[in-house]
Amino acid sequence: MSLEMAKRSVLSVISVLWSGLSCVSALITLICALLIIGKVSIPLTVLLVAVSLPSAILNQTYTKKLYQWNLTHIKEERQMNYLSFIMTDKSYAQELRLFNIGDFLKEKFKAIWGPYFAKKKKLTKKRVFLVTLLSVLPQLCILGILAVLSLRIINGNNTVGDYSLYSGLLAQFLSSLMAALTSIINIYDQKLRIHSFEEFEAIPNAVANTGTEKLNEITSIEFNDVSFRYPGTEKEVLQHISFSVKKHEKVCLVGLNGAGKSTLIKLLLRFYDAESGNIRINGADVKNYEITSLRKAFSCLFQLSPNYAFTLRENITISDIFKNADENDVLEALYNSSASDILDQMADGLDSYLSRAYEENGTELSGGQHQKIALARTFFRNSSVLILDEPSASLDPESEYKVFCSLEKLSRGKTAIFTSHRLSNTIIADKIIVIENGTVIEQGTHDELMEKASRYATFFTYQADRYIRKK
Ligand SMILES: Nc1ncnc2c1ncn2[C@@H]1O[C@H](COP(=O)(O)OP(=O)(O)OP(=O)(O)O)[C@@H](O)[C@H]1O
Ligand SMILES: [Mg+2]
Repeated sequence: MSLEMAKRSVLSVISVLWSGLSCVSALITLICALLIIGKVSIPLTVLLVAVSLPSAILNQTYTKKLYQWNLTHIKEERQMNYLSFIMTDKSYAQELRLFNIGDFLKEKFKAIWGPYFAKKKKLTKKRVFLVTLLSVLPQLCILGILAVLSLRIINGNNTVGDYSLYSGLLAQFLSSLMAALTSIINIYDQKLRIHSFEEFEAIPNAVANTGTEKLNEITSIEFNDVSFRYPGTEKEVLQHISFSVKKHEKVCLVGLNGAGKSTLIKLLLRFYDAESGNIRINGADVKNYEITSLRKAFSCLFQLSPNYAFTLRENITISDIFKNADENDVLEALYNSSASDILDQMADGLDSYLSRAYEENGTELSGGQHQKIALARTFFRNSSVLILDEPSASLDPESEYKVFCSLEKLSRGKTAIFTSHRLSNTIIADKIIVIENGTVIEQGTHDELMEKASRYATFFTYQADRYIRKK
């Protein structure tokens, strides 16, 4: 919510500058016009200024009211944006048609839009009515001034030429007044938005970047009695987790859905900090390291890594934009993720677009092909620790086999942490850590865990049984 408010504030600073300039220019014109109009009737000119003020004050009051109303209705706006998104986004198109839920979604949208629009309309109508009513007062004053002027012309104190001069000035006065009021209201409105931005900036980061040490190569990782719950939630998703990963070790995290595997990875990369316990890298607390250098030491394939609507080359090199890489590095990353065949199908080679969203000639990939590209991006980054969260979930058997061969080859001089629900892949791991309900329940090699009545052995047998043809 705060981010949404802050996003709206960014353009406000520029807007305040422009409005400030317009306001100054309108005020200069306004003052000059008033000085001349004052010659006709000082009391009426003072009255003209006085009656113009209520409309300005009212406008300002309603600007604040409307702004605060908008802030309290951001949730509805976001819900409506979300509903519009799923009604138009490609990823939902199939289920939308299959489930025939177009009307259902429209009704959901209308249920929010109806009361939202009615309330906003009521507030805006009231504003327009009152502001229009009050803006009649300056008009009446102007009529008074023109009447005095007409009398003066009749009495021979002024000429008909003066009438056209003053009526022009009065029109100028009104338009400058409106311009000045609009600018002042805009400045006020934008100031409220900038305030939201300042509030957003004051929100502390989920993790404090107070570490100063630079991290280069990682030689050891230790989780010591780590417990964690996501901010604003009750459930402790990790409880007293302890394990270690040595240099060049390949460690596989195994566990049921929701066990806490991906959360462990997020803590290691310091997207969050542990609530208690600590994570140590090369013997030092992760908090001692400067965050950018800490993250630089990891190549990570996240469980849900979407690709970018950029070229194939950019989709790979984006993981390390400062790397002085040549085409061979990109091709090697594609080869290691078993994605070379994708490149062969692309009309413009590495410069082909990976989506048709913005480029008519772009290429739409299959789910598995997308995963291979995301994997190639991870391999391209080439950091000292490789993390792969479910790297083969969408891959065909041949690609999965090749990817794990690559992983074995690539991680020879590296440390690797990976998760996989397909337990045949644990074969390349030096150590398997089994996580259940946020705790480490067992760890060891495949053979060690298979020898005892472990949870791992149970999981492995579930899958192995399926591969053994029963007679
Ligand atoms: N951003 C979040 N905010 C709150 N709770 C979360 C968040 N992300 C995950 N969780 C919760 O944390 C728990 C652990 O989730 P996590 O993603 O680590 O599981 P996982 O072991 O990776 O599961 P899977 O095998 O399905 O990938 C789950 O109960 C989940 O609901
Ligand atoms: Mg996960």
